[in-house]
Amino acid sequence: MRTPIVAGNWKLYKTISEAVEFVSALRELAADVTGVEIVIAPPFTALSAVAKVLVGSNIRLAAQDVFREEKGAFTGEVSPVMLKDAGCGYVIIGHSERRGYFGETDASVNRKAKAAHIHGLKPILCVGEKLEDRNAGNTQSVVEAQVVKGISGFSEAEILSTAIAYEPVWAIGTGITARSDQAQEVHGFIRSLLSRIYSTDSAKQVRLQYGGSVNAANTAELMAQMDVDGVLVGGASLEVESFVNIVKAAHG
Ligand code: 13P
Repeated sequence: MRTPIVAGNWKLYKTISEAVEFVSALRELAADVTGVEIVIAPPFTALSAVAKVLVGSNIRLAAQDVFREEKGAFTGEVSPVMLKDAGCGYVIIGHSERRGYFGETDASVNRKAKAAHIHGLKPILCVGEKLEDRNAGNTQSVVEAQVVKGISGFSEAEILSTAIAYEPVWAIGTGITARSDQAQEVHGFIRSLLSRIYSTDSAKQVRLQYGGSVNAANTAELMAQMDVDGVLVGGASLEVESFVNIVKAAHG
């Protein structure tokens, strides 16, 4: 019942021409893929050019961040309206790199996610514990706080159009992927939280992605877990062949 979602987060990589070249190739290579939602998150500068290449394709566009306000004197920020205008359907919010390097808090993440919903952008809301949290046995309490605060005030309709990405910080860019049972344990926990806040029926419809050193070799096993509905891919989304192989592995 949950359509798998495979998203590539390019982070601070690719010029406009590199991005256009990638998505032109991806469009061809993924043309016959059905039953998987494919999402690409280029840097802001490439969004509009990529959107033009993706018109009429089965690939959706995401931004990597958004500001909470629609407009105003906020030098350097990009609003949800601007992202919609550029062709985005999704936006990644609260990535651990935003939290770690740019001072994002659960409160700022929540405001951004609400702003995204108001303007019809679907948030991919990132949560995940640091290694010290896990080692101290605090994975669930950390993830619970991030989820509960991150989705605070979301209506039922809003939670249904949100994807939650569990990205353990120790697995990001390290080559150390969470074991599939570790991913499932946290995903199951997040779904149980959603059941408690909304309803079991709604919780069953929310897509939960895993991120952290995902590649074509480990995608199928992660996706085979009951509550893993997709992946959020960093490094392995930068080469088109590697990304297509992940999409195909997610398809099963
Ligand atoms: P890597 O796939 O490079 O570990 O990055 C994961 C990530 O941060 C995706 O948002």
